[in-house]
Amino acid sequence: CIDISKLPKATGRFTYDSGFTATASCKSAITYIDGDEGVLLYRGYPIEQLAEHSNFLEVAYLLMNGELPDAKQFASFEHDVTHHTMMHEAFKSFIGGFRHDAHPMAMLVGMLGSMASFYHNDLDYDDPEQRRLAGIRLIAKLPTIAAACYRYSMGWPLSYPRNELGYVERFLHMMFELPSGPLELSPVAAKAMDLLFILHADHEQNASTSTVRLVGSTGANPYACIASGVAALWGPAHGGANEAVLKMLAEIGDVKNVQSAVDRAKDKESGFRLMGFGHRVYKNFDPRAKIIREMTHKVLGELGIDDPMLDIAMRLEEAALKDDYFVQRKLYPNVDFYSGIIYKALKIPTEMFTVMFAIARTAGWVSHWLEQQEDPEFKIGRPRQIYTGAESRDYMATDKR
Ligand code: ACO
Repeated sequence: CIDISKLPKATGRFTYDSGFTATASCKSAITYIDGDEGVLLYRGYPIEQLAEHSNFLEVAYLLMNGELPDAKQFASFEHDVTHHTMMHEAFKSFIGGFRHDAHPMAMLVGMLGSMASFYHNDLDYDDPEQRRLAGIRLIAKLPTIAAACYRYSMGWPLSYPRNELGYVERFLHMMFELPSGPLELSPVAAKAMDLLFILHADHEQNASTSTVRLVGSTGANPYACIASGVAALWGPAHGGANEAVLKMLAEIGDVKNVQSAVDRAKDKESGFRLMGFGHRVYKNFDPRAKIIREMTHKVLGELGIDDPMLDIAMRLEEAALKDDYFVQRKLYPNVDFYSGIIYKALKIPTEMFTVMFAIARTAGWVSHWLEQQEDPEFKIGRPRQIYTGAESRDYMATDKR
């Protein structure tokens, strides 16, 4: 217990809210969540309707601009994104500096941070057009960088974006194209990935978006802001959960081990949690998880894949939802519970799952950064703390300690 009167200066009054469970950090018109009812709206549009009728690029436009585009606006946006997909050739030597077994999220943080050196502060980010262009560049180049990270880890030559293709098809092509011949793209795969990108595009003030805003509040370069978002996303409590879910399902290995996994997750001493379960805001079904679960069955069916992981996941969900521990704490499957199974069916390697999330969430991060830069109440983010350290004391010479 600290005697505040002995500290050099009184610290004033403020609230203590570790983990920001009841603190709004900003005003935003982008995304609305009702965690009790399981509602998610992007700019007022229910996620279910966007998932059914829209596509990722249209959703990115909506998030950035506040309204759905008409045909001309969409064509112009798609043109802009398509014409900023290339990376500077110097990135080839930059990427060559990573260890061959580097995690792709580590590479993504580094590559995005380095983009700040290509589009540096000589550019005037006070100019709305320069800000918009930064947003377009980020949405356009993320798939190119992500594919480069994967190809580097495989020891394959890097591939160039084929701009005659759509956003998702272009990415899949860059990922899997081989010198031996053209890639046969399954429309089911492209549609499934587009849907996952829509569902992951934004989720208001989650850890990574808040990080982008905090870094953005200092006036930092936008590419550095997004790199900080990628770093925050990587953790297993956030976007890294999709990778962790697949590892957990593989570890469970068989439906007969499901109940013991549930029991272990209830035991606090075990340090084990059911990955892909629970959410800070949703105390009901995550609406994205419902859509993904349905899509998982469809995709696996259409691709003719019989994956035992899906059986394990379904049994795990069933067992947890019947269990008092999970019911009382309102722990439901979240967006990441089933997404990994779809990515696996699309042959995306497990280490790339969070990178997929980052491609999609870039639309949200960019939109929040743009909104923040235009906010007349925009201030540097500067939380306070409850000091728990030593009282004021005098320095002692080394021989007196
Ligand atoms: N398995 C077992 N118990 C859990 C789980 C879980 N997945 N999640 C929460 N709990 C328990 C906690 O132990 C705690 O129990 P207690 O009240 O007896 O102490 C209670 O439920 C509340 O949990 P908190 O950690 O306080 O909830 P918080 O809102 O801080 O955390 C989080 C939310 C991080 C998502 C948590 O549920 C979790 O770790 N889930 C697993 C990781 C995951 O799936 N993350 C992805 C989230 S979605 C996204 O970011 C895209």
